[in-house]
Amino acid sequence: MSRIKSIAFLLLVATLALAACGGGAAEEEADCAPNCEYTDMVFCYPQLGAESDWRTANTASFKENAGDLGIRLIFSDAQQKQENQISAMRACIQQEVDVIGLPPVVEDGWEAVLTEAQDAGIPVIIVDRSVTADESLYASHIGSNMVLEGQRSADEMNSLLPDGGKIVELSGTTGSGAAVGRAEGFRMNLNDNIEIIDSQTGNFTTAEGKPVMEAFLTKYGDEIDGAFIHNDNMAIGAVEAMKAAGLQPGDIVIVSVDGTRGGFQLMIDGWVQADVECNPLLGSQVYAMALQLMNGETIDREVLTDETVYYPGEAEELLPSRQY
Ligand code: AHR
Repeated sequence: MSRIKSIAFLLLVATLALAACGGGAAEEEADCAPNCEYTDMVFCYPQLGAESDWRTANTASFKENAGDLGIRLIFSDAQQKQENQISAMRACIQQEVDVIGLPPVVEDGWEAVLTEAQDAGIPVIIVDRSVTADESLYASHIGSNMVLEGQRSADEMNSLLPDGGKIVELSGTTGSGAAVGRAEGFRMNLNDNIEIIDSQTGNFTTAEGKPVMEAFLTKYGDEIDGAFIHNDNMAIGAVEAMKAAGLQPGDIVIVSVDGTRGGFQLMIDGWVQADVECNPLLGSQVYAMALQLMNGETIDREVLTDETVYYPGEAEELLPSRQY
């Protein structure tokens, strides 16, 4: 064999050997496929935190559904820190879980750990907020259309301030898919005669929302006609600040997001004029997709939740049946 022929032969053997062992490609089907059941599943959910009532409901949805279906759930709380979520994911990869559900605290910075999961053959479903990582690094995204929520919020603000006005924005966690999407959608639909005079983060919490509104009131006083608040928990904090400043319901119109019981109560009390729904009850839907992945079935790349807008007129009637 000439030297060139033997090199070509060696290259062919190496290629065949790589193909036989998968060549490093992700192997997403489980050993029990195609007959896996929920009781076969070990599911990892590195929850991003416990910052809001929405989040509490989301956690309950995953825990309760896992209990009902017989899924072994590995749950952790990252306390709104991306590094904690990444560590929790790495621990799950080590434990060779079947599927990971990732609700990412921020959009950027997931490439490395998603690649590690893929190399280990563990599919990842992005839950709730989005990531900027390449789509090839995860199986699917199940959650809300945050841009649409922002657009709906702007439509409500346009109706509340038909003659225009000045508004402030209490934004969610900086760099999170929820805050980025809502801010973008809001600006897409907001009428030209409405000016956003300030925008600050309240990190999706009541405790941080209150001082942000206090600072807005100190700085702008009577100038503020409206507030776009990225979640109900920050709205609760903002209303506390408004009450302390002697304001009455309606002095500043508020459009909030989530549709939690707390948001409904603010509508009943007259402080919030529209609450744009963001549904946290994703557990059963995500588990159904995880089972499909274990069985090697084809899944949708993106599943967006169907949502609506709630108003004060219906709040009293709907509040008793709200699940979160
Ligand atoms: O990502 C969903 C958002 O996160 C909810 O609007 C908010 O309440 C939560 O903290």
